[in-house]
Amino acid sequence: MRTELIKDILVSQPDGREITINGWVRTKRESKNLVFIQVNDGSCFASVQLTFDRENPGDGVNISALENVLKPITTGASVKATGKLVPSPASGQAVEIQLTQLTVWGEAPADSYPLQKKNHSLEFLREHAHLRARTNTFGAVARMRSQMAFAIHSFFQERGFQYVHTPIITASDCEGAGEMFQVTTLDLEKIASKAVEAGAKGMSPEKAAGLIDYSKDFFGKHASLTVSGQLEAETYATALSRVYTFGPTFRAENSNTTRHLAEFWMIEPEMAFFDLTDNMDLAEEFVKYLLNWALTKCTADMKFFDERIQKGLIDTLTHVVNSDFARITYTEAVEALEKNAQAFEFKPYWGCDLQSEHEKYLTEVVYKRPVIVTDYPKEIKAFYMKLNEDGKTVRAMDVLVPGLGEIIGGSEREADYTTLLERIKTLGLNPEDYWWYLDLRKFGTVPHSGFGLGFERLLLYVTGMGNIRDVIPYPRAPKLADF
Ligand code: 4AD
Ligand code: MG
Repeated sequence: MRTELIKDILVSQPDGREITINGWVRTKRESKNLVFIQVNDGSCFASVQLTFDRENPGDGVNISALENVLKPITTGASVKATGKLVPSPASGQAVEIQLTQLTVWGEAPADSYPLQKKNHSLEFLREHAHLRARTNTFGAVARMRSQMAFAIHSFFQERGFQYVHTPIITASDCEGAGEMFQVTTLDLEKIASKAVEAGAKGMSPEKAAGLIDYSKDFFGKHASLTVSGQLEAETYATALSRVYTFGPTFRAENSNTTRHLAEFWMIEPEMAFFDLTDNMDLAEEFVKYLLNWALTKCTADMKFFDERIQKGLIDTLTHVVNSDFARITYTEAVEALEKNAQAFEFKPYWGCDLQSEHEKYLTEVVYKRPVIVTDYPKEIKAFYMKLNEDGKTVRAMDVLVPGLGEIIGGSEREADYTTLLERIKTLGLNPEDYWWYLDLRKFGTVPHSGFGLGFERLLLYVTGMGNIRDVIPYPRAPKLADF
């Protein structure tokens, strides 16, 4: 049953040997006595062409049997084809298969198969997420996702980092932003009806709320899906020195944008004995390594993205690979923005969170290359970031890229027990929830740093796709979990 992949066949010698392939029909076309079928198996961008010459079918071919099989074949049908691998006279392909035998695994009736030859809109394809990987665009995105995941592991494994698996279910809020999905086995409907009953008997709403007893919940406490694997990665970095985690993360933020998902994958390296400069160096090297991998190892898919998805994409990415990222402090960034305040809808001022229009201006107008912004006001960053001596800013860094904005967020971590405890309290978080995290500062504390790269943001960047929902197989967003 096992046969060769089309990607291997397309680069092999057309020496007339007999081969068998499997795949899905992209197009079938007839011209006089000739039949041409393009078959794609997703192993690469290109399809292989099957040809059948009715007047000159080749030795031992049963014409009427083949004609019968050919008849019901339409776009989307799955087939197994055997024939001779020969040089192709057609331009744009080196080889083709002269058909001798054909089997249909499954038909795809033209009157009901949703993906016909014509170009479908991305919106339409989003509604057919279970079939969209069979299109050129989504096949290319899927291969790019796989390649980038491989590149990420390769980058860290080459540099002595250990891959750690941080938990998906957690009791601590890493970003302290309260945007977590709750995980519970409590029967919410039963609790609600009990509350209604109790309320009818004159119970106060506060007391009714007390009917929820987390000690009876599955984990014996309030638990959620993680927003980041960072805190647990820190526990391993302060034992194995250099680690990274790469897994799904979840955020219940109600951001209905082309750059936010409720479920996305994040790559988070965490390094002991790294200060903020080391952290920035690593982040810059990492981004360049990944873009270079895409440009040099995914050429056919990249050519498609460059020609059909975003004109000039290859030049843009090449420029990033060859440029030194600008490094500026938040204070410098705000000064640059204030000089041009009239250009912005949201007027920049010291203390404000940078908006995407600001990020765009810095990367596309002022520096014309990626920019790493550091030392943000502590009020707009998470509790774990190292406090600077000025007492006002933290050792944060955001990597901003032209055309997208924030792709990486990270920092040097607060390594001092007392300072960290203060920060947790000031932000209104409960120190008891972070006791184990605080322990890292109590016992053998070390300077350490890390960052998070949103995997889908990276994919948006390398593919030139416009909507983050199109670079993950099954996007999760507000009111969207259909498949
Ligand atoms: O800046 P963030 O929130 O940083 C953290 O989570 C840190 N714990 C990372 C660390 O230091 N280990 O998120 C990191 C990155 C962002 O720069 C962005 O690329 C991506 O994650 N991201 C999202 N991607 C898609 N959808 C969302 N809702 C995202 N939120 C963040
Ligand atoms: Mg961020």
